[in-house]
Amino acid sequence: MKKYSAGITAVHGWVPEYRLTNEELSTMVDTTDEWIMQRIGIKERRILKEEGKATSDMGAEAVRGLLEKRGIKPEEVDLLICATITADMHFPSTANLISDKAGMKNAWSFDISAACSGFLFALQTASQFIETGRHQKVVVVGADMMSSITDYTDRTTCPLFGDAAAAVLLEPVGEGEGIIDSILEVDGSGVKHLHMKAGGSLRPPSHETVDAREHFVFQEGQAVFKVAVSKMADVSIEIMKKNKVSRNDLNWLVPHQANMRIIEAVARRMGIPREKVMINLEKYGNTTAATIPLCLWEWEPRLRKGDKLVLSAFGGGFTWGSIYIIWAYDRDK
Ligand code: UT7
Repeated sequence: MKKYSAGITAVHGWVPEYRLTNEELSTMVDTTDEWIMQRIGIKERRILKEEGKATSDMGAEAVRGLLEKRGIKPEEVDLLICATITADMHFPSTANLISDKAGMKNAWSFDISAACSGFLFALQTASQFIETGRHQKVVVVGADMMSSITDYTDRTTCPLFGDAAAAVLLEPVGEGEGIIDSILEVDGSGVKHLHMKAGGSLRPPSHETVDAREHFVFQEGQAVFKVAVSKMADVSIEIMKKNKVSRNDLNWLVPHQANMRIIEAVARRMGIPREKVMINLEKYGNTTAATIPLCLWEWEPRLRKGDKLVLSAFGGGFTWGSIYIIWAYDRDK
């Protein structure tokens, strides 16, 4: 039962310093800047190179910045949910590690695994703790160190991915604001097109799996591309219809950043002009669970209370969905 409205009240992102450019990639695999820009639209991606650092370190940086910005002590946070597919370890959860690194002594925490839709799945889950009145302050962080599962000898996947983390704070907000609605869906039969072959209980790590390079993202790009466009567009149109939001009413489409052609095709199907679409793919690549909050972070100074946003993602699983948000604050107030 919904007693309160849950809304995003702060957002913060963090990206590593190292920029892996298309020029450098062209020295590693048989590719060119021209091919990558034409087929994907990524110019460079950030890579976490520091020895001993992992997804939780990026997540903790994003969360520390988030709390500082909002003027909240880590001890005040009730719950932290981390969306990731590149956990530091199989267990404990990366959320537990982030909570410790960011000093959240009173929060419980857990991970959500929904690949590129992970942030949406985590945001919807988190909002319910606020809506029921159970919690007052919930942090959702999308964090992925995709470089740890990217095969830099495979030209069909290595240009796609980057490392980043971005976090939002959820708190009770005014009625009719915040997270208004969500449509989240999965189809596990999509596994054949996008997965990591080994390292789990099905194929535990062995010399054989390492030699066969099975600990990296495996993707049938074209199959994923087609479904991504139709599912992201369909679910975004559906949530707008359901909530009586017209194309003109919509202020921002915030799509998962996987491929410029996917983003453009989704926006075209929805009839949304490019200037209303958040795109930072060319700078960061596909950072999986971090793409959507990373966009919100970059666009935050331009977001106004009352703005209508549709967040939309598609990813491994298959997983996909849309969340409709009425933005709940002006940053400068
Ligand atoms: O975020 C999770 C969901 N994932 C996605 O949304 C990704 C969806 N898929 C895609 O974005 C695209 O399918 C890719 C970017 C992965 C690939 O683009 P594509 O236009 O589907 O290319 P393709 O796989 O059909 O390959 C076309 C050609 C092939 O050569 P031939 O067989 O035509 O001679 C590839 O070998 O392009 C070649 N190719 C490359 N050439 C230069 C593939 N990768 C490269 C490369 N550089 N990096």
